Amino acid sequence: MDQKALWSGRFDGDLDDSTLGFTSSLDVDVRMAYYDIMGSLAHVKMLGATGILPSSDVSAIIKGLKDILKELEEGRLKLDDKLEDIHTNVEFRLTESIGPTGGRLHTGRSRNDQVATDFRMYLRDAVLGTLRSLENLQRALISKAEEHLDTVMPGFTHMQHAQPVTLAYHLMTHCFRLQRDSDRFLDAYKRLNVCPLGSAALAGTTYPIDRRMTAELLGFSRPTENAMDGVSDRDFALELAFCASATAVHLSSLAEELILWSSPEFGFVEMDDAYSTGSSIMPQKKNPDIAELVRGRCGKVSSGLFNLLMLMKGLPLAYNRDMQEDKEPVMTSLATLLPALEMSAPMIATMKVKEERMESVTEEGFINATDMADYLVLKGVPFREAHGIVGKAVRHCIAHDKRLEDMSLAEMQEMSPLIEDDIFQVIPVRRCVERRSSYGGPARESVEAQFMEALSQMTRRREQIDKESERLHQAMDALRQL
Ligand code: ARG
Repeated sequence: MDQKALWSGRFDGDLDDSTLGFTSSLDVDVRMAYYDIMGSLAHVKMLGATGILPSSDVSAIIKGLKDILKELEEGRLKLDDKLEDIHTNVEFRLTESIGPTGGRLHTGRSRNDQVATDFRMYLRDAVLGTLRSLENLQRALISKAEEHLDTVMPGFTHMQHAQPVTLAYHLMTHCFRLQRDSDRFLDAYKRLNVCPLGSAALAGTTYPIDRRMTAELLGFSRPTENAMDGVSDRDFALELAFCASATAVHLSSLAEELILWSSPEFGFVEMDDAYSTGSSIMPQKKNPDIAELVRGRCGKVSSGLFNLLMLMKGLPLAYNRDMQEDKEPVMTSLATLLPALEMSAPMIATMKVKEERMESVTEEGFINATDMADYLVLKGVPFREAHGIVGKAVRHCIAHDKRLEDMSLAEMQEMSPLIEDDIFQVIPVRRCVERRSSYGGPARESVEAQFMEALSQMTRRREQIDKESERLHQAMDALRQL
């Protein structure tokens, strides 16, 4: 086969080999091969339905494309790096297999809309996969939380003991962060799932194409409204790179806590052997490497966002070859995030929680001081004054090496005569948690309400994801049946 570039007509000379190597994107866009074939199947079906191509050509092209799909799925499809990209490879293979009729496939489209369509299709599946993994991790957090509704631990600000909470409550914080990540992905999906095919190079086409039809055949919600925007918009990639980055920041923060908590200084948790590694020199070591790698890979995920932002900044309309560089960053962001999500779920599910240690450290650091101040407020003391009284009490306790609850009533009454015996109902650490039953608080019933809320949001979202996956599946299936 004469492997000339798709655009060789205008040129006298051949490309230099180094130019070919420099301009090729096959190593990255080969990941979109399946979507490229599917997009072509939809396009040619539309060309037939609108009478742009005769049905004999349409049947020949469909058969040729289906053979290529088979070759791809059986690992037999031969690709040539000299052919620039996956789109060119598929078209050449088609012409090689069915003859010059293959050349009619590109009627009414350009690689510019083709690549934007393939990219969106690739990302749709990647997003749906990411959403499922996010849900698994949320479920792992909720299950662990359910076991630890009464496991008291310090809540921190500035890494100092602040107020007592429970492990369930703390884990639910991570869960709600991931909830927002999932919502963001799902919201971005709406703008992703729009079809640029038929935008052609930038200005639509003179053929009577039916863009609604191709959009529908490919499972998109609608065609893009403006052809120039259709070929040049990469907001969907930027949004997803941000969604992935925000998720990675959350995963990294969770990982960081588990690493700290695994240290002997904290001693709150121990990772299961299946999610730890040892040292080549120090026989005693058990390291939380999985969590460390989750934390470490966060950088790679967000590098995709910065890469894309810099790539798109200042590009004039419409397509510019720079945009060939758009796929690798977002694909890498998502591909790096996914295993981090997938590893985090079982790591959390299997980690051993040292409840007694968690609770015992709440004895330190006057973690119940706010509760003592709140008590005084209820007795009529202005909060600012109460703050001062308890501050003095803390100083007194530091000097006498005791906890607030170890003071005698007489000692306390020296601080404020308003303090009565009922103070001892208020300042034991467990009571501090139990009494924080405001909406969204750490008391058992508040956290149970959070489980319900999180789970019902997850169920609703899951229904949307399943419905969307099913819709895409049906669309792809129908194209295979052509
Ligand atoms: N390989 C190119 C890309 O990924 C395909 C589009 C080429 N279009 C063009 N006008 N040269 O962006």
